[in-house]
Amino acid sequence: MPRIEGQRIYRAPGRVNLIGEHTDYNGGFVMPAAIDLYTQVTITPRDDRKLLIHSESFSDDVEFDFDDPHPIASGHWSDYVCGVAVTLERAGFSLKGAALEIRSTVPIGAGLSSSAALEVAAGYALLDNSAIQIDRTELAKLCQRAENEFVGMRCGIMDQFIACFGQAGHALMLDCRSLDYRLLPLPPGVRLVICNTMIRHELAASEYNNRRSECEAGVRNFAKFVPSVSSLRNVTLNDLEGYGRDLPEVIYKRCRHVVTENARVVEAAAALEQSDLQAFGDLMAASHRSLRDDYEVSCAELDTMVDLATQVEGVYGARMTGGGFGGCTINLVKADRVAEFTKDVARGYEQATGVVPEIYVCSTADGVADL
Ligand code: GLA
Repeated sequence: MPRIEGQRIYRAPGRVNLIGEHTDYNGGFVMPAAIDLYTQVTITPRDDRKLLIHSESFSDDVEFDFDDPHPIASGHWSDYVCGVAVTLERAGFSLKGAALEIRSTVPIGAGLSSSAALEVAAGYALLDNSAIQIDRTELAKLCQRAENEFVGMRCGIMDQFIACFGQAGHALMLDCRSLDYRLLPLPPGVRLVICNTMIRHELAASEYNNRRSECEAGVRNFAKFVPSVSSLRNVTLNDLEGYGRDLPEVIYKRCRHVVTENARVVEAAAALEQSDLQAFGDLMAASHRSLRDDYEVSCAELDTMVDLATQVEGVYGARMTGGGFGGCTINLVKADRVAEFTKDVARGYEQATGVVPEIYVCSTADGVADL
């Protein structure tokens, strides 16, 4: 289709997290990769201060006024876009009106960050449409703030950050305390295969916020003994053993997950740099067990998917990815075994659950861009 004058197209990727789950909002380490599933925003300038938002995936259009004095979230998909617009305006950026056409290949609610892809693509488009330049770190932070404050999901920075900074051929190791990052090349001969359980449990959002509160309770405990502790990132295994014993069992387990998971990400980065995929895969397995038993964010369908994958030859590692309570697993699979993997896991999962899974053999991708 020919473009209308002034029309621009932007896209931001979904992501998969290789390791480092529920560590971002604890100031810890994560290792996501951007994937070649995208949310695309076509923007056409308007002369007023209104946003007209249309998505190919939903029938209802939305109109939003930048000058609305009391914008509130409505539980609608468009909250992600309006939230970014409100947050940018509150940060002092004066936006110009526009019509937005949204289309996406990132499955919604599957834990592959469709919301961050939408926030980042829309934010980037709105800023560019208003001739405003900001750096990507600031964009990621503002999109996270939109989700925290406007949508009400207390997510960390991982998803928005990778949607901004992803690079094809690489995973990205991010220190969520300093926001320093390192790009880690993925060795040839291995594929990232994502298995979608097609299940999304209702508890996902409320339990996510509960986990955050439990971690905060853990921090308050350790800070009594070690005053420099302001997040679980500063808590060592020794602190956990020494000062965690009187914690309620649940809080202790949440803290143990975060502390051990941070250590696993550091080890996994070293393993990747040495192309030691076996060691990397073992760390993925340990991460899954910790998320299942200590953090309690897995579910029967995710555990089944991981168990099935682990039985297939040529799989280095498998684990749940993202927030949990359904969604996807990430599997590190030898390139020449991918076809068999896909067939075996799909058949096994359908037999066990009666649900036909979707399986994506992904390539890594670049962060948000102007097309
Ligand atoms: C969701 C959140 C992220 C992160 C993960 C869990 O994807 O948006 O910030 O906390 O869950 O690792």
